[in-house]
Formats: sequence, structure tokens, C-alpha cells
Amino acid sequence: LITTVTLNPCMDTGIILDEFLYGGLNRVDKNMYDVGGKGINVSVVIKMLGIQSVCTGINYFDNKEILEKFLNKKGIGYDFVLAPGRLRNNIKIFDKKTGTITEINEKGSFISDEIIYRLKEKIIYYARQSDILILSGSVPQGVDTSIYGQIINDVRNLPVKVILDADGSLLKAGIHSKPYMIKPNIYELEGIMGRKFKNIYDIIDSSRSLVEQGISLVIVSMGDGGAVAVDKKSAYFAPALSLDVKSAVGAGDSMVAAAAAAIIKGLDLADTLKMASAAASATVIQSGTKLCGLSDFEYMLDRIKIIPYK
Ligand SMILES: Nc1ncnc2c1ncn2[C@@H]1O[C@H](COP(=O)(O)OP(=O)(O)OP(=O)(O)O)[C@@H](O)[C@H]1O
Ligand SMILES: [Mg+2]
Repeated sequence: LITTVTLNPCMDTGIILDEFLYGGLNRVDKNMYDVGGKGINVSVVIKMLGIQSVCTGINYFDNKEILEKFLNKKGIGYDFVLAPGRLRNNIKIFDKKTGTITEINEKGSFISDEIIYRLKEKIIYYARQSDILILSGSVPQGVDTSIYGQIINDVRNLPVKVILDADGSLLKAGIHSKPYMIKPNIYELEGIMGRKFKNIYDIIDSSRSLVEQGISLVIVSMGDGGAVAVDKKSAYFAPALSLDVKSAVGAGDSMVAAAAAAIIKGLDLADTLKMASAAASATVIQSGTKLCGLSDFEYMLDRIKIIPYK
């Protein structure tokens, strides 16, 4: 079993207007709704790859049906801690005339210590039954940035492998607790190392230093520069494919999902990077928040090249 954790889910409302009238009355031509949250994205891609996962994390009493309906429709199991309040809504207004997008993001509800306590209990419960525990994304107000580090410590003595995909101090504190795998993008890794990278050797060296600190597997995504994977024994580079990129949203989540699937299957580092890169490539050719499909994934899997590095 794979368990994904989403502490800060959201819904996205896309509003398409012929022309956005600032300060005026806007009549909506077309509306789009979507459910977001990095752990949830990871679960969606894991499902596409034919593997079962369960989503846990935080959902909200007042409109808990939104997340539940979405996951029911996808056939993904879930067990969230319910917090008072409502799922935050991120509104994106598309202006067809100018081609601009105006975003209005809600802050979301404040999470109490009691909810965090129950959340940790639940995560430990699932971690006991899981091969892999995936901690992804931001956290809501009231949650300490050491949360992922705390969770990694909580499950330290279980056989579960923890994958961490977060930014800033969430990542820093998490790394301190030595998860099994991390998947920073270049900027997140630069933040951790406190410097800018000059070239791919620099990135591989930095990843090696993290492996030496006790993280078994480091995959660094580099956007249109591809990705590298480093473990104790080897290092590989997967150049990005030249694609008709529609939207990079969810590319990192797709990488994490496919890497988890590869780990479950017991694949080696080269094939893990190959699967991760194929899933990300299959996602960037989808528009908006849409994630990869199986036929695109298989198509990309045949095309991703893996280059060993010294
Ligand atoms: N422009 C692109 N062309 C080809 N492949 C791409 C492009 N952008 C991203 N990818 C693929 O997606 C992978 C992940 O991208 P990226 O480094 O942007 O992840 P991320 O910043 O973690 O994304 P996320 O927003 O999902 O967290 C890359 O390693 C690459 O395989
Ligand atoms: Mg990312």
C-alpha cells in the first residue's frame, strides 16, 4: 500500500470571461472546477499506474463532499481528519480578450494542535500498513513547518519508506529527519544548499552530499532541463524530451507518483528515474491541471534516455 498525505488541499475554480471588467459586472461564460493538493495529485497518478493508494491529510467539515466526491469518482480510497471550516477556493479568472489570468487565492482555515495530534495518529496508523508514505506540498495556517520532520521521526522504526516533496523550511526540517527519498526541483535544492548551481555536476554533487547524510534516494527535477537521480551507488541523468508543453502543473507530482510505483516494483535507480521522467513528460503535454494518461506514459517510457554519470 502507498499512503499519500495532503495537509493543504484546495479547490480551483476557473472562470472564463470574454473580457474581465475590473470593478464591473462580469457574466460568466464558462466555469471549471477542479480539486487540487499535491498528495491528491500523486494518488491520481499512482492509480493511473495501476497501484492502490490511500489519501490522508486534512479535509473540512463544511464542504467535505467536494474532496470526497472527487476521490470517489477516481476510485481512490481516503481517510482524512476533518477540521472545522471549509476547503479553500482558488479562483482563476481567464480574460479571453487580453489573454491574462487573474488569481485570487484564499488563505484557508486555521488548524488547531488537536487536529494535528489526530492527524499524526492517523498517519502512523496507515504508515504501519504501508510500503511507502508520501508527504507532499504546503501546510495550512497554524501548522508548524517542522511537521514533516516530526512525521518522519514518528514512523522511523516502521519499515515504511518516506518520500518527501516540499519546499523551503518544510523541506529543510524534513531532510533533517532523513526521509527515504526527496524530489526537490532545482530551486528547492538551491534553497537547501544555500547557493546557485552552475552545472549538472554541481547538482549531482549536492545530491550526493544529501545521500551521504542518510537520504537513500535523491531525484532532482530541472524542468525543461530534465532530471537527475542519485543514490549511494550511482547517478543518472534523464534529459527532458522535446515536447509540445501545455502546462507543467503537476509534473513534479507525477514524478513522485511514478518513482513510488517504481520503488514498489523493486526497480533499480535507472528505471526509477525513467518511470518518473516518463510520467512527468506525459503530464506536461496536458493542459491546465490535467495529469498524465497511461498511453502517453507508455509512449514517453519508450523515449526517455537514461545517461549514467560518474
Ligand atoms: N518544458 C518541459 N519540457 C519537457 N519536460 C518537462 C518540461 N517541464 C517539466 N518537464 C518534465 O517534468 C519534470 C518535473 O518538472 P519540474 O522540475 O518543473 O517539477 P516541479 O517544479 O517539482 O513541478 P511541480 O509544480 O509539479 O511541483 C522534469 O524533470 C521533466 O521531466
Ligand atoms: Mg514540485
